[in-house]
Amino acid sequence: MPDFPKRLSDTAALLDAYLKQVLASEARRGTPNRLLSAMEHALLGGGKRLRPLLVIESARLFGFASAESLHAAAALECIHCYSLVHDDLPSMDNDKMRRGQPTVWKAYDEWTAILAGDALQALAFELLARPTCHPDPAVRSELVAVIAEAAGPSGMAGGQALDLEAERLRKGAAPDITHIALLQTMKTGRLICAACEAGAILTKASAQDRAALVRYGENLGFAFQISDDLLDAEGKAAAVGKATRKDTAAGKATLVSLVGVKRAREHMDRVVDEAIAALAPFGDKAEVLADVARFMGRRES
Ligand code: IPE
Ligand code: IPE
Ligand code: MG
Ligand code: MG
Ligand code: MG
Repeated sequence: MPDFPKRLSDTAALLDAYLKQVLASEARRGTPNRLLSAMEHALLGGGKRLRPLLVIESARLFGFASAESLHAAAALECIHCYSLVHDDLPSMDNDKMRRGQPTVWKAYDEWTAILAGDALQALAFELLARPTCHPDPAVRSELVAVIAEAAGPSGMAGGQALDLEAERLRKGAAPDITHIALLQTMKTGRLICAACEAGAILTKASAQDRAALVRYGENLGFAFQISDDLLDAEGKAAAVGKATRKDTAAGKATLVSLVGVKRAREHMDRVVDEAIAALAPFGDKAEVLADVARFMGRRES
């Protein structure tokens, strides 16, 4: 069985090629050059492609080849990239570097970055709605509903709102661990969980298998945000590809700021173990997904 780094780099190559085709077709449709170029900057900037890997590997559990889950995988990545473009805006996290390059608003300007984010989000749902995503319209509509909910007001967008409220409106009021867990689950966990669930939806997996993947995704999503916060506290900006040591200064509500690096890492390790335990029904077939969870403890970007 191919190891996790190889699966990740294979996914990145597959996805980059597919996203280039999507952008080329946008050019043919008449998307304005500046907007298209900002979308390209956001999409092809060298991300890890973790969410697409989760879609592809979850679907692979039930016999799908990567080509069969690629459209849904690309849709998840479009939403993720849009969320990063908006997250970096001056009115949000005010970040100038992302994936080792200037952020979209820095390379272009704010209005272009806002519109590139809007366009990527709409494009994601177009990819899901097209018959190329899956021949069964009921599957496509289920994917749209689950992913929209994960990205929407009670998911990622809501989590981003809680993140900025904690930083700006509740300044000085130490957030409790329950609130931090909720905020992080919403802003990061929900999309990661939807990526795992998408694999089950595409393949019409049983309700039991789908629930196991959701359990895995929920734990992985929480572990992922803790590891992101640990990278902010301990990582090197050159390796991480974005500014570090920003969260505490900004007053972000993170587990690291509440309980410190050591206890946050212990918590992350426990959550990673729970993610791996949820994969038990799939046996050895889920080894790549288990490796994704183990990667949380050692990632450098
Ligand atoms: C960073 O996500 C933002 C969070 C949701 C924590 P990733 O670390 O997956 O970013 P890329 O796509 O690899 O750049
Ligand atoms: C962002 O969380 C989560 C998103 C929904 C984009 P962060 O603000 O911690 O992500 P980074 O550290 O900028 O990548
Ligand atoms: Mg943020
Ligand atoms: Mg940020
Ligand atoms: Mg962060």
